[in-house]
Amino acid sequence: MIGLGMYAPPKTLTNDELEKMVDTSDSWIMERTGIKLRRIAEPRTACSDLCLEASKRALADAGISPSEIDIIVVGTCTPDMPLPSTACFLQMKLGAGRAYALDLNAACSGFLYSLSAADAMIRAGRGKKALVVGGEILSTVTDYTDRNTCILFGDGAGAVVLSECPDGEGVLSCHLHSDGNLWELIYAPGGGTVHPYGPEVAENRMHAIRMAGNETFKQAVTRMVEVSLEALQHNRVDISDVALFLPHQANMRIINAVGKRLGISEGRVFVNLERYGNTSAASVPIALAEAREQGRFAKGDLLLLASFGAGLTWGSALVRM
Ligand code: UT7
Repeated sequence: MIGLGMYAPPKTLTNDELEKMVDTSDSWIMERTGIKLRRIAEPRTACSDLCLEASKRALADAGISPSEIDIIVVGTCTPDMPLPSTACFLQMKLGAGRAYALDLNAACSGFLYSLSAADAMIRAGRGKKALVVGGEILSTVTDYTDRNTCILFGDGAGAVVLSECPDGEGVLSCHLHSDGNLWELIYAPGGGTVHPYGPEVAENRMHAIRMAGNETFKQAVTRMVEVSLEALQHNRVDISDVALFLPHQANMRIINAVGKRLGISEGRVFVNLERYGNTSAASVPIALAEAREQGRFAKGDLLLLASFGAGLTWGSALVRM
């Protein structure tokens, strides 16, 4: 990973503001989720606009120009349009003329799925440098009359530049899993082929995310622990070898439970969800960029990344920085 970058829109949505929108309270939200505020994009912002800012920062950090990128993968479940891909808009806006570009939808696991895909493409010789982005404008698929979900989600993007490197450096492993049987735990029914856009979708807010929070919570803890242990065992490393654990930022209680079960001290678990909420595919790359900015890891350190989301999908990656 030769470059990291993130971007979140400046506008905030606080717990106090949410108190005026639905029957909730700052104390409930803080106690049950740990979230204080979320960033919200202005109306008609494109997901690729957030991805563009994060990508520019990651490219500047890597010290390379857009024309040196061979592959662009954008993990998102809130694309600019159904087609073409957000990655193609990003390619155009960046002027990354040489790159081939594609989107990948694995909801909150979108970044880890995209990282795994780009890593495999580089290993297969399909390019030497990849831009891997997680970007979301979840505020466009949030029902601000549903207190179960509207307190959770925010907008943002994070980007990573991947480059060919010797074995034993960079992305050491990726482990991915899905269980479509449990799709009804988190889904947004409207706007696809089953319920195309129309009056039914608009009247019933079917474009918005629906979630069975409690069951999702339990799955998130179990699956992120399992897949993190899989990464450690595969690489024959102990949790004490990990300098920093960067889990998907969905709920403070989920992060604490996963950290506890893995036996990692709080100081080695990265948390920023109090300022961004759940940004889905953007959460892990935003965490990476912020952790580096805060000096939370150094070159050569081992990082463990883990995610969980709709699908269900979950995954982990072990990375030598
Ligand atoms: O990124 C993808 C993965 N997503 C996640 O991992 C999210 C996982 N789930 C969660 O983070 C939590 O389940 C929530 C934060 C969504 C909910 O917390 P919970 O502790 O699981 O609460 P609950 O759903 O069991 O609801 C408990 C009570 C209910 O009231 P009753 O039925 O006991 O009277 C809810 O109606 O809390 C109520 N409630 C609220 N009260 C105040 C639900 N949302 C709110 C709210 N404010 N915003």
